[in-house]
Amino acid sequence: MARAPTKVTLFGEHAVVYGYPALVISIPVYVTVSGSPSTRFSLRSGPVHLHELSITIENEKLYISPQSRDLLLKYFSYVIEATKLLGVKGLELSIESELPVGAGLGTSAAVTVGTIAVGAKISNKDLTKEEIAKIAWKVEERVQGKASPMDTFASALGGALLVRKSGDQWSIERIRVGELPLVVGVFRKRRSTAQLVEMVAKKMSELEVTKSILKLIGEITENALKALETGDLALLGELMNVNHGLLEALGLVNKEVACAVHSLRKAGALGVKMSGAGHGGAVIALGDDLSSLESVLRSCGAEKTFIVKSLSKGVEYPT
Ligand code: MEV
Repeated sequence: MARAPTKVTLFGEHAVVYGYPALVISIPVYVTVSGSPSTRFSLRSGPVHLHELSITIENEKLYISPQSRDLLLKYFSYVIEATKLLGVKGLELSIESELPVGAGLGTSAAVTVGTIAVGAKISNKDLTKEEIAKIAWKVEERVQGKASPMDTFASALGGALLVRKSGDQWSIERIRVGELPLVVGVFRKRRSTAQLVEMVAKKMSELEVTKSILKLIGEITENALKALETGDLALLGELMNVNHGLLEALGLVNKEVACAVHSLRKAGALGVKMSGAGHGGAVIALGDDLSSLESVLRSCGAEKTFIVKSLSKGVEYPT
């Protein structure tokens, strides 16, 4: 059995795909993958967030709508690719997640990291956390088309990371984070990460200012790093607000999230932003009175809320 944590992107999502730095923390909210050797592949999963699923049984035949089939395949494709890359010939897997898949908190990366950790153990491959992260990143690239190593490295390595690209090389740097009072709300995600990454890529080719927006997000991340080091929460909050504004300019914020962001600011949050790929998914707020911010998130329609008290240590084999 392997336990892989999810993550919260503090700064720099989307811009990171184009090489700009992003700041990510790994949180102790887990995906648990259990497995046993088998001659075939089988997969069982706990409740997942599959949006609208349309399956009909007629004359003892099962009909799955094309959209529902796409959703199922998308969810399982991370597992299929992970087992392919590991060269595992058969596996019986069971996946339980504390968060819905597609929540914007790196659940698919955690599913991938957990699957690789279990697959490696079963096939007697001794992989380090870095090796697990690298394989998981490759899986995300295959499934999503374009992916930064942010989500997969955060899940595999744990802690707080600064992720950036210079030239062709990605660098992952561990950073020290002091007190960081955060509340997280999860909203129904309306579009997949792949669709949203594609949407930004299209904007890049059609609207010149998009490049400047992404560059500016990179600068905000650099500034946030300094604010984190000095523990300047007021500045950090301000930078979260600006980063959110730029993500909104890229068309990544839907009505439900926009409404939650404004209500949280009105309720006294030091800073609020969407986190992850956008169009629903996660909203993070920095503040003093976290339980009242949590109630605001719930009244704005968040499906799940939680307070982040500590960081996780990355993927583990619990005993
Ligand atoms: C998704 O959680 C974050 C994105 O930046 C995509 C990626 O980094 O692969 C939108």
